[in-house]
Amino acid sequence: MTEMLRFFGRRKGKGIGSSRQRLMDELLPKVLFRMPKTKKEKISNQFPFKPKELWLEVGFGGGEHVAELAKMNPKVGFVGAEPFLNGVSSLLAHLNGSHRFPRAETGLEEGRADNVRIWPDDIRLVFPKLSEGIFERIFVLYPDPWPKARHAERRFINQTNLPDLYRLLTPTGKLFVATDVQGYADWTMEQMKLFKKFKQINGDVHVAPSDWVPTRYEKKGVEAGRQPIYFIFCKKSA
Ligand SMILES: C[S@@+](CC[C@H](N)C(=O)[O-])C[C@H]1O[C@@H](n2cnc3c(N)ncnc32)[C@H](O)[C@@H]1O
Repeated sequence: MTEMLRFFGRRKGKGIGSSRQRLMDELLPKVLFRMPKTKKEKISNQFPFKPKELWLEVGFGGGEHVAELAKMNPKVGFVGAEPFLNGVSSLLAHLNGSHRFPRAETGLEEGRADNVRIWPDDIRLVFPKLSEGIFERIFVLYPDPWPKARHAERRFINQTNLPDLYRLLTPTGKLFVATDVQGYADWTMEQMKLFKKFKQINGDVHVAPSDWVPTRYEKKGVEAGRQPIYFIFCKKSA
């Protein structure tokens, strides 16, 4: 990994219990997102069916959001990225539908479509290998705020990542960003102004978009009295 791509978050937390470890050993290889060799390689081929759309979640944390969306949208192919391995094992437990493995032949909860592929690492490593216009939705939910000015370059919404997010969205695609840190919301709008190619399409940023599934971080924040701020962006040309 180059210096520019240094990852500053946590990769490991408290130890993973034996059933979660088993999910990591046995289920993860089945649902692992494989790095495409070239941009020409179609990532939709990584699913056992032809997805009607592809959606990406960057930094899924404990995976509650992507697991729930995947259940609600069985025909959509999801790519979830998270370098924090305890988070990856948590997503596997959600996909498995049980903390006792195996629940079913496939390792997936009964009736659940095999529509999630997990990249257990920094999403920026994959960007150069993805062809343009592939994701109908991209979610960046409650990204680490890095509130200190000297850490500003670590914030995910920045002039390095926005061109990739733009390139990867389909012409009608939507980028969802949520935060409960006013400073990060202001930062996001400043970065969007600088980048120029996205426009915000939701009106009241305090109203959750329709069919919104709150993330674990969002729920905790609301319990602690913080107010979520939601942005939906689309390409200006769309
Ligand atoms: C504050 S947590 C929020 C987690 C989750 N989205 C939620 O709302 O519950 C931000 C997450 O983004 C992940 N993250 C940060 N940079 C990332 C990157 N470049 N690629 C993938 N995940 C990243 C971190 O590991 C962390 O788990």
